[in-house]
Amino acid sequence: MSTTTALTRAVDGLWFSKDLSQSEPIPEAAIEQAVALMRSGRLHRYGEQGAGTPDPSLLEQEYATYVGAKYCVAVSSCGAAMFLALKALGVKPGDKVLTSSFTLAPVPGAIAHAGAAAVLVETRDDYTTDLVDLERKAVISGARVLLLSHMRGHIADLKAVRDICDRHGISLVEDCAHTMGARWDGQHTGTFGRIGCYSTQTYKHINAGEGGLLVTDDDDVAAQVILMSGCYMMYDQHVLRPSAEVFERWRY
Ligand SMILES: Cc1ncc(COP(=O)(O)O)c(C=O)c1O
Repeated sequence: MSTTTALTRAVDGLWFSKDLSQSEPIPEAAIEQAVALMRSGRLHRYGEQGAGTPDPSLLEQEYATYVGAKYCVAVSSCGAAMFLALKALGVKPGDKVLTSSFTLAPVPGAIAHAGAAAVLVETRDDYTTDLVDLERKAVISGARVLLLSHMRGHIADLKAVRDICDRHGISLVEDCAHTMGARWDGQHTGTFGRIGCYSTQTYKHINAGEGGLLVTDDDDVAAQVILMSGCYMMYDQHVLRPSAEVFERWRY
């Protein structure tokens, strides 16, 4: 029996006919939109002045409204979003960053890209991050950032996580690669801390091939992420953006 077939076998001996490793087809409306975009030739997210609002900016606006965040910045992957999140929060080479031990390589990878050191927090039998170990390691490590994965959709008590972070002066970044659309106590995952990061890679909830979304309510984080992901002049093409004064604080 192949691994894929084994995975599609239901618990009580029943069989699903659906192969869960197969992607869903891209909806016709999305295919038409992609073709229209190719006909326009306007594939870069920033257009020359006067060409109207670029599509990625409309996506940012729609996604921020959906999760209830002030800003959303669309980037090339969730890995890129997490790296930018750490940089925008001021993580420097040699710093320690708390993170879930049950996660995927791009998560400690983002920490390594920032030159920081991952401090792994234990995982409970229910696959969520162990909050007793989190508090212990928050004290021992002196880390200022927690990059928390809601792995395979298992979500720790986010209000308790936020309380621990507040008590120890830690900024929470949520890795929501597996929880786009999921809520904790009625609130979207990704909105409990300073920053939420999502993936739109093919095997995630929205299939863009590759892609990521970062959400935040913080003006300074949003401006830095827009600047560090490559926008050095056309900020005003982001429908959702902080004021010009905030960009002035960070642009150099
Ligand atoms: C838990 C988790 N976090 C982060 C990522 C990174 O997402 P991306 O491929 O968009 O960089 C993945 C990718 O599969 C993941 O499974």
